[in-house]
Amino acid sequence: ESGAGVEAGYPDAEYSAKGAKIVSDRAEIFRTADIIVQVLCPGANDKTGAADLAAFRSGQIVIGFFRPMNSVDVLKALAERGVTSFSVELIPRITRAQSMDALSSMATVAGYKAVLIAGDILPKLFPMLTTAAGTITPARVLILGVGVAGLQAIATARRLGAVVSAYDLRPVVKEQVQSLGARFVELPIEAQNAQDARGYATAQDESFYRRQRELLGKVIAENDVVITTAVIPGKKAPILVTKEMVAGMAPRSVIIDLAAERGGNCELTQAGEKIMVGNDVTIVGWFNLASTVPYHASQMYARNLSTFLALLVKDGKLNLNLKDDILRDTLITHGGDIVNARLRELFQLPALAAKEETPK
Ligand code: NAI
Repeated sequence: ESGAGVEAGYPDAEYSAKGAKIVSDRAEIFRTADIIVQVLCPGANDKTGAADLAAFRSGQIVIGFFRPMNSVDVLKALAERGVTSFSVELIPRITRAQSMDALSSMATVAGYKAVLIAGDILPKLFPMLTTAAGTITPARVLILGVGVAGLQAIATARRLGAVVSAYDLRPVVKEQVQSLGARFVELPIEAQNAQDARGYATAQDESFYRRQRELLGKVIAENDVVITTAVIPGKKAPILVTKEMVAGMAPRSVIIDLAAERGGNCELTQAGEKIMVGNDVTIVGWFNLASTVPYHASQMYARNLSTFLALLVKDGKLNLNLKDDILRDTLITHGGDIVNARLRELFQLPALAAKEETPK
């Protein structure tokens, strides 16, 4: 699509130079393409999602972010239109799929940018400085949730010279936190089966979350910046920072809530907004921070998607081999139905017969 890369720093001429045909009429792309690769597809795209949904043709293939677990109606509509869609959120965490893992790419960028946003808002320097005008103490940064975004936030805050600590309910991340030069916060509570087979955190019961909040209050009050990234696939994000904890923070402290789109880890986060609350604490709940570093976010996404396409298209022909676990796990609609077994279970749809779940 003409201009698709302009805002990210990739003019049309660079695509033409690589042999791409630039199409200026968006509708023509939907009329003519066999495979459409997007960043945000219907379900995840508030701007063009509805119009795109109406434009897809039967048999067309669409690949990108769909926010599938929260988009049952959109997925039903895609299936009805006969669209074959692949959701990159569902790429399995196996070694062979690592170079396709778009969620990890975007989380890396978001974790980095969260620290820069905090640094910009905080009225303090991050590094310790010894100057003729005295010694400046370093800023204290706490990361809650140490997945891909959390690890990158730790690394970035450390590079800026902050004193960083981090907490996650999965004890396995302790070593990773320490290897980045941060302190791992240990709370005297233990999550039940903290991690599922895919490496994601599992949901805990309310008594765990209540105890966690009681213990986290003191830790949060000791920090200038809190960056939260805790999410559970398919569930609302857990509240880790209550309004009482925010009230206990020093004036002009900063919270960056990377879980804002999933309901937020801070009770006061307003989705998509930056707000300042009673005691002058700023809470940022902006979405899709990766899009604010579009040059490298695009470069990583392009690599992820071209690796995926190389699996889906062999010698110029479609290779919809659903014995391949990457293609099978990411395929969400095909042949008029929602075919993904995991989503069908989540949406409480009856299981499809085995042969329908693995269409040829
Ligand atoms: P995520 O985005 O699903 O969640 C962020 C973090 O929040 C997780 O570390 C999770 O344990 C934590 N969390 C959830 N609830 C919490 C609570 N109540 N309190 C504290 N922390 C809480 O995580 P992400 O980035 O998807 O990474 C999860 C794991 O998967 C990591 O160990 C990561 O290294 C691993 N991974 C493996 C890949 C592969 O093998 N190909 C690819 C990407 C990630």
